[in-house]
Amino acid sequence: MVTIEVSIKSSSKKYNIQIGKNIRQELYKYLSERYRGKKAVIVTDDNVNKLYGASLYRGIVEAGMKCRLISFSPGEKSKSLQVLSGIYEDLAGFNADRGDIIIAFGGGVAGDLAGFAAATYLRGISYIQLPTTLLAQVDSSVGGKTAIDLSSGKNLVGSFYHPEIVFIDTLFLNTLEDRYLRDGMAEVIKYGCIKDKSLFDRLSDYENLQQCIADMDELVCTCCSIKRAVVEADELDRGERMLLNFGHTFGHAVEQYYNYEKYTHGEAVAMGMAEITKRSEEMGLTERGTAKALADILKKYGLPYEIPVANKKDLINVMRRDKKFSGDSIRLVLLNKLGTAFIMKAKSEELESFLDTTGDARED
Ligand code: GLY
Repeated sequence: MVTIEVSIKSSSKKYNIQIGKNIRQELYKYLSERYRGKKAVIVTDDNVNKLYGASLYRGIVEAGMKCRLISFSPGEKSKSLQVLSGIYEDLAGFNADRGDIIIAFGGGVAGDLAGFAAATYLRGISYIQLPTTLLAQVDSSVGGKTAIDLSSGKNLVGSFYHPEIVFIDTLFLNTLEDRYLRDGMAEVIKYGCIKDKSLFDRLSDYENLQQCIADMDELVCTCCSIKRAVVEADELDRGERMLLNFGHTFGHAVEQYYNYEKYTHGEAVAMGMAEITKRSEEMGLTERGTAKALADILKKYGLPYEIPVANKKDLINVMRRDKKFSGDSIRLVLLNKLGTAFIMKAKSEELESFLDTTGDARED
């Protein structure tokens, strides 16, 4: 087991990320030592519930707690006010109080939703992140971003609210569909692009996803260490942390354009990273050869590297509602070269120049 400590200066809060195989056993020990006799509320989706809900519930009851499990339909559409309101009602119906604990169990949607419920129910109760997808293990379970979506955009209502502890059990990845492993690989590749050329090279050197999976514990630790350093430097996303949004401005727009139905988050981010790097390289802002290396690695991991929207200008209207917009400008994350990134302010009318419109109307 590896432990990474996250230290948040603004609130002097510290919490651990524990990573390893079958680490859920450590969760039961943790709950038994600190929460025996209290209530635990598991918030998860129906897919994770089917696979692991009953055993997690049993483990928690055996740790000496009363337990309630709340399950919602899988997918981004559940990050809604309506589902959140159902969670509040369930928490209240179970008489959960500030001494009890919420367990965010699942992928990014479960983490964001349960985390935001924890941040706001009774003005804040503690929660634990128990992520089951690669994307949640390397990114969304760490750093305290919690949110729900509005019809006008993703993550528009939320808070920075850190978990009490994160348990990353890499055995959960064994039941993850191939598409969702690849989805998480987009974020792993992102860390290599923005912060760690040796990680990028390592991922390039694997012959295929299977070889990479054999080293997954170590890769998850590398990503969480990078994320820890970024979050410690800029908890509230005012500078350094924005680098984590590499590929996300276009990515969120693609997700939303297709109503969260066609592409996963990681697939959309992959397209966003490739698209912006192609243009920034053409503009002379990024070292030559970077866009090709990035497209090659995305291909290797079965990720898309072109935005297939027929008229990419349509994406700009979607982007205008992005919360990263401030006044009439947005901060874009670009690569200097593999392993280092920078933030560039772009006016809304300049955004078009970062989209490659040469193939527009060719396909959708
Ligand atoms: N997922 C991006 C962040 O945590 O800032």
